[in-house]
Amino acid sequence: MDGFDPVTSFGPDVARRYDDDLRGDEAETVDFLAGLALGGPALEFAIGTGRIALPLSQLGIRVDGIELSHDMVARLRQKPGGAALDVTIGDMASATAPAQYRLVYLVFNTIYNLLTQDAQVRCFENAARHLTPDGRFVVEAGVPSATVRGNQFVDVERIATEEVVLDVNRYDPVTQILDESHISLTNSGVRLGPISCRLAEPSELDLMARIAGLTLVDRWSGWRSESFTAASERHVSVYARPASAET
Ligand SMILES: C[S@@+](CC[C@H](N)C(=O)[O-])C[C@H]1O[C@@H](n2cnc3c(N)ncnc32)[C@H](O)[C@@H]1O
Repeated sequence: MDGFDPVTSFGPDVARRYDDDLRGDEAETVDFLAGLALGGPALEFAIGTGRIALPLSQLGIRVDGIELSHDMVARLRQKPGGAALDVTIGDMASATAPAQYRLVYLVFNTIYNLLTQDAQVRCFENAARHLTPDGRFVVEAGVPSATVRGNQFVDVERIATEEVVLDVNRYDPVTQILDESHISLTNSGVRLGPISCRLAEPSELDLMARIAGLTLVDRWSGWRSESFTAASERHVSVYARPASAET
């Protein structure tokens, strides 16, 4: 998408509205992550407004963050407990957080906000760099082969009396770039929310992990540890150092 930049995509308007319609999976996400954090500390790549980090920190786990958008962090700071979190402003593919972590996690398809394979590999390497020897890196993302339908397709995200939200998508299989516009239709007008993503199959992510010295430990299709099958539209993948490298 011409002129797309992840910083402008998560600017003040998006940050202000971001928590209006939550995904609804926050409680199970936090349960799952708390089970792996074993008391912490934990680091969220692309912490955003703290949708997951804040309830996780309310369990007594130290949660730090890395985030590119000042506006998303400003929103996080306004929320109860948000001022106390240690957030490094920067790119999750390269920025350094202040500790080593039992858990590093990257949810909600956000690995795809890195628009090249190289940046995604560097993100895995950066996660590995921040892990304690027995640490876990959790990635949650959609499965492209189960969700992309041709080069152009439309998904209905929400139908309500006051608003219809559509996802209008254009996919280039050569670059693996999905240009997506969230389109909100209301009586007061049309609002476009453009974003570009670079999609990758789970197998490609596993190779990125391997380049970073990590290996796949578990793969589920959801936060309640549902089985991952050929029909799964998303995955929750857990990576760690190979057992022999943990000591
Ligand atoms: C869909 S939101 C997810 C926020 C939060 N993780 C959540 O689950 O609600 C994507 C976030 O990724 C951030 N982001 C995009 N590219 C980034 C990068 N290269 N490094 C750090 N943060 C990035 C955006 O600013 C935005 O806050």
